[in-house]
Amino acid sequence: MGTDSSASHYPLGSTDAEHERLIRQAAWVAPYTERFFREAGIGPGQRVLDLGSGVGDVAMLAARLVGPSGEVLGVEGDSRSVVRARARVAEAGLHNVSFIQSDVCQVPDNQLFDAAVGRYILMFLPDPVAVLRALSQVVRPGGVVAFQESSFASFLRLSAPLPLWAAGASLMIETFQRSGANTEMGPALYQIFQEAGLPAPTVHVDTLLGADQWMAGVLRSLHWQMRKFNLALEPLGALDTLPQRLQAEVAASNAVTPLPLIFGAWARRPTDVASR
Ligand SMILES: C[S@@+](CC[C@H](N)C(=O)[O-])C[C@H]1O[C@@H](n2cnc3c(N)ncnc32)[C@H](O)[C@@H]1O
Repeated sequence: MGTDSSASHYPLGSTDAEHERLIRQAAWVAPYTERFFREAGIGPGQRVLDLGSGVGDVAMLAARLVGPSGEVLGVEGDSRSVVRARARVAEAGLHNVSFIQSDVCQVPDNQLFDAAVGRYILMFLPDPVAVLRALSQVVRPGGVVAFQESSFASFLRLSAPLPLWAAGASLMIETFQRSGANTEMGPALYQIFQEAGLPAPTVHVDTLLGADQWMAGVLRSLHWQMRKFNLALEPLGALDTLPQRLQAEVAASNAVTPLPLIFGAWARRPTDVASR
């Protein structure tokens, strides 16, 4: 499996603060990912491949679903994140999860999985169709491919009445896009699965409100990239006081401040294809 590496362009970085942010985000989104995985048929005894594991939250969630008779292999490109993910797995006492440090474009092709999953990873890949196509080859016929990805369009629209939120949302989207990320990967999943040779996926969308802390955390992690791109950061003011100012702006209005929409898409690899 070989396509261009994008790990080096990953805009959120791998600082301790970003790891903590991912853990907070994962705790918030976990019930929606768990419901999505259960609906897709992930359950006891299965072997699951998790792409773009970060500090391990999706892999650990899947590990609990597959139980001690199943196992999860996480693939993550960043070495610091892999170290943190392994430490967290050990701390959680889970014995059925392991991680390899690798670009997701180089997924191990010497084993078959019952499911391949990922959350917030395809948006960062230069050729998600090629990765999905290659991935579907390491999923057994009848096995599951399931991904959760975002859409930032309504997030930007709903932020419009709030000047600080609107400035933050536009800077966030511009930074992601300039770094090569697809901020509309969620709605693209339906098409991308089919371009990769998978059946039309079942898709649903979740909206979570109350994104104040999330917004400030992502902007903090993206700050180095925004400076690299010479974006005008004055509208954000001091990062240290950004969470309080974002909260105050929401509190003074009737606006809602959602997380970017979460699209979940899953499909089964057709059973009438020859296994590798
Ligand atoms: C937004 S985080 C999501 C982490 C995890 N899936 C979650 O939802 O908590 C994306 C992760 O993908 C990793 N990543 C990005 N591009 C990658 C690539 N081409 N190969 C391997 N990992 C990659 C990043 O290092 C980061 O840890």
